[in-house]
Amino acid sequence: MVKLIGKKNKIAVFISGRGSNLKSLIKFSKKNSTFEISFVVSDNKNATGLNFTKMNKIQQLVINFKNKKLAEKKILKYLNKKKIKFIALAGFMKILSKSFIKNFNGTILNIHPSLLPKYKGLNTHKRVLKNKEIYSGCTVHLVTEKLDSGKILAQKKVRVLKNDNEISLSKKILKQEHLLYPKTIEKILTNL
Ligand code: GRF
Repeated sequence: MVKLIGKKNKIAVFISGRGSNLKSLIKFSKKNSTFEISFVVSDNKNATGLNFTKMNKIQQLVINFKNKKLAEKKILKYLNKKKIKFIALAGFMKILSKSFIKNFNGTILNIHPSLLPKYKGLNTHKRVLKNKEIYSGCTVHLVTEKLDSGKILAQKKVRVLKNDNEISLSKKILKQEHLLYPKTIEKILTNL
């Protein structure tokens, strides 16, 4: 159990784009949760998700990943300074290096829009539909240096209907992501 003496667990969220998972994490954290979003990192200065950061007065770092080593070094410096030991990747489109991940002890999580280990990587919904899968869903997993391959922590199944297309399927799954991710983070934090 993580000991909480009046204070919440600080977590950082890494994004690259829309930020709907970031939004749902912020919303959840403001309720009766054990965590707060203390820091947001984006590798994309135009990420619309950064609007939620501003709206909620959360400190943010926009950083170019062209030089990954340097970017990770800078991020680590911020995280250490702010004593943040937990990271939630939410639509973050860069792969973190082994040496960065080594600084964390199973406390970097990611959410992926498929039932892993199936459909790692991009265009999951398109591939699911093409293969006429009956089920798809979302997975929360630990982050390793191998894409979408770390230990699976939680999954939610979603039925794929005959008339589903990429948009309808992604909408259904995203709705479940917004429920599963905060719940799983809360569970992991209270069991650390
Ligand atoms: C989500 O589908 C998530 O599973 C995947 O990237 C998407 C991010 O969406 N890793 P958003 O930026 O949180 O809206």
